[in-house]
Amino acid sequence: MTIAIIGMGNMGAGIARLLASKGVKVAIGSRDPAKAAKLAEEIGAGAEGGGITAAAKLADVVILAVPYTAAAETIREANGFAGKVLVDISNPITPDYKALTVGHSTSAAEEIQKLAPQAKVVKAFNTIFAQLLPAESRKGRSVQVFVAGDDEAAKKVVSDIVTKGDFEPVESGPLSNARYLEPVGEINIHFGFFLGWGTSAAPAWIKA
Ligand SMILES: NC(=O)c1ccc[n+]([C@@H]2O[C@H](COP(=O)([O-])OP(=O)(O)OC[C@H]3O[C@@H](n4cnc5c(N)ncnc54)[C@H](OP(=O)(O)O)[C@@H]3O)[C@@H](O)[C@H]2O)c1
Repeated sequence: MTIAIIGMGNMGAGIARLLASKGVKVAIGSRDPAKAAKLAEEIGAGAEGGGITAAAKLADVVILAVPYTAAAETIREANGFAGKVLVDISNPITPDYKALTVGHSTSAAEEIQKLAPQAKVVKAFNTIFAQLLPAESRKGRSVQVFVAGDDEAAKKVVSDIVTKGDFEPVESGPLSNARYLEPVGEINIHFGFFLGWGTSAAPAWIKA
């Protein structure tokens, strides 16, 4: 299975490197196709890189690794990622990272689903700092990734990808639960950036 990753910043490049290192074929899509091709070449392992639509065409699963503010434009450019499982990893945050711009009665994930009605949107990875993506940075610890979505089959596919990356998928209910996962992402940003924990901070839900 090929997984497309749109955006080649901290999260996009990090997820591409992680999955490629686990034997997954990745297709990186960027506003700058030449830069994506270069990153794919550097990653190796059969990775491909090019434009956003071209990368998405190669895959059934697309990981949207762009800022929430760029989601609408990216989705439009890719004709809504119609028919794809679309993984939303975003935290819709203010420029100073200190607050959410969306919440309570909706979420970034639900807004993205509205923008891409023919895609199956699944929320995942929003509570994981990019610095925790390399498997070695987790030092053998089990780190949870919360997975929410309305389509059970799509959620299973994304949970399998999470497992491939050596994370622990946590079934987190319908896509509307992204309303609660995004605040968890925001408090993790506060722990990591503003309260001194650093970017190895990650939430761990326990069943006592
Ligand atoms: N960084 C983290 O630790 C972290 C953790 C959890 C979730 N997230 C979420 O993951 C997503 C990506 O975060 P990131 O840290 O990887 O961001 P980043 O390093 O700033 O990279 C974002 C990428 O998005 C692409 N992009 C497309 N349209 C854009 C636009 N209009 N403006 C800016 N960039 C645009 C760019 O890739 P191209 O060069 O391909 O255009 C850019 O490299 C965000 O939604 C964020 O909330 C981040």
